[in-house]
Order: sequence, then C-alpha cells, then structure tokens
Amino acid sequence: MHELDPQKLPRHVAIIMDGNGRWARARMRNRVFGHDEGARSVRDVVRTCRELEISYLTLYAFSKENWQRPEAEVKALWNLLKRFLRSELPELVEKEVRLLHLGDTEDIPHDVRREFQAAVDQTAGLDKLVLSLAVNYGGRQEIARAAALFAKDVAAGLHKPEDLSPELFSRYLFTKELPDPDLVIRTGGEYRVSNFLLWQLAYAELYITETLWPDFRRDQFLEALYDFQKRERRFGRTSDQVQDTKSCRAL
Ligand code: FPP
Repeated sequence: MHELDPQKLPRHVAIIMDGNGRWARARMRNRVFGHDEGARSVRDVVRTCRELEISYLTLYAFSKENWQRPEAEVKALWNLLKRFLRSELPELVEKEVRLLHLGDTEDIPHDVRREFQAAVDQTAGLDKLVLSLAVNYGGRQEIARAAALFAKDVAAGLHKPEDLSPELFSRYLFTKELPDPDLVIRTGGEYRVSNFLLWQLAYAELYITETLWPDFRRDQFLEALYDFQKRERRFGRTSDQVQDTKSCRAL
C-alpha cells in the first residue's frame, strides 16, 4: 500500500456506489443481497474517512431514476436504509459524525423519513465528518428547484434578478452547507455522472474503478485517495502557474 500525504487529502469525497446488482449476480444471489453487502462498504468508507479526518463524505444512495426499478427492489432499498440508519446511529454519534439528507423528502416512505429526520436531528451538533446521503436526489431536479426558490425570493423583493451569481445560486442548493467535492469516485466501471451533483462537480477530480461497490473497502478507498494525490488541480490555470503558486507557498 502506498503512503498517503495527510496534507493532500480531499476535503470532500463524493461516491457513486454502483455494482451491487452485478456483485450479487456473480454469486447467483438476488440484487438485494448485493445492496446489503454494499451497506458494509458504506460503513467501512465512513470509518476510513473518520480515521483520515476527511471532513465531508457524500454518498449517492437513491436517485430520482431509481424509482423505476422493480417495486420489490425499491422496497428493499428503503428497508435497508431504515435499518442502516438505526444500526449505525450510535456509532455515528460516538464518532461525532453529522448526518445530512440531500434530496426531496416528499415521496420517501413515511417511516424512512421519520428515521432519517431523527438521525439528522440527533447528529445536528456534530462536526468531525459531515456524511450526506443523497436520497431521492437528482442533480437537474436540484438545480430546477434552486431556480424556483430564487425566483420566489425575487418575487418577494429579497433579491433582484441581476444579483444572481454562482455563489448566491449555490445557497439555494441542498448542498448549501458543503464545499464542492474535490474527488468523485464511481465504482462499477461506468463512465458517467448519472445526474449526481451536476452543479457541484465543476472542478472535481474523477476516479472510476471497475471494482464493484460491495468490494470497495478501506484498501480500495485508500487507493483512490492515493490516485487523487497524484493529480495536479489547475482550476483553469496553466501547470506553470500552479507550480509557481506552490513554490511561493513553500517559501
Ligand atoms: C447501484 O448498484 C446501487 C444503488 C442504486 C443503491 C446504493 C445503495 C447501497 C450501496 C446500499 C446501502 C446504502 C446505504 C446508505 C445504507 P446497482 O444496483 O445499479 O448495481 P448494478 O449496476 O450492478 O446493477
């Protein structure tokens, strides 16, 4: 295993957890078996973030598009989320992890919504890691919702249309309290963003691995972080400019 530089860890990691179904199929089990095993990877990655003192972790747990899956699978996913929230809450509190929900609450089954809200409330004052679960979430829907909220504020006289800047717009998103992700990991080998954090990913580094989510544990996560540390983040500048800034900082 490579040595990680603690100074160069991402502040915010976001993950598209894909491949549960394929993982289960390879074992001739049903898809839900893969999701159950995927929940163990969630636990592992959360623990690793705490250990490394990564401040923000965002996980894509249920997209707007996931409603189109077979009803039994959708039901099983809600059930799993509820069980996960219940079983993990003591450890989240103990490790000072704050839980946030990104997405629309309406449509989420009432019992899950209640469990989710209780966990969000109970962890509200904690700040060692912010764990955001994107549930009933879609990036385009989030942007449309933010535009509508801004329009309402304009109608109410709180803003003028010309006030709108990227910074102001960001305050209308579900992620208003989060910095943009530095690193986005996608497991399962597909090269797409699947309506995840479309606005927030503008300058994120992408890491795509063939590893299926249930197999993505501490070691695979460390490998992704190591890969991130090799990247040169230029934010539109040239490589020379980035190198100059670095050497100035070092002086
Ligand atoms: C994608 O794999 C995965 C999902 C749609 C669900 C993600 C849910 C979990 C990892 C379960 C646990 C999460 C929490 C927060 C408790 P897929 O089913 O599309 O896999 P496939 O591409 O191989 O079919």
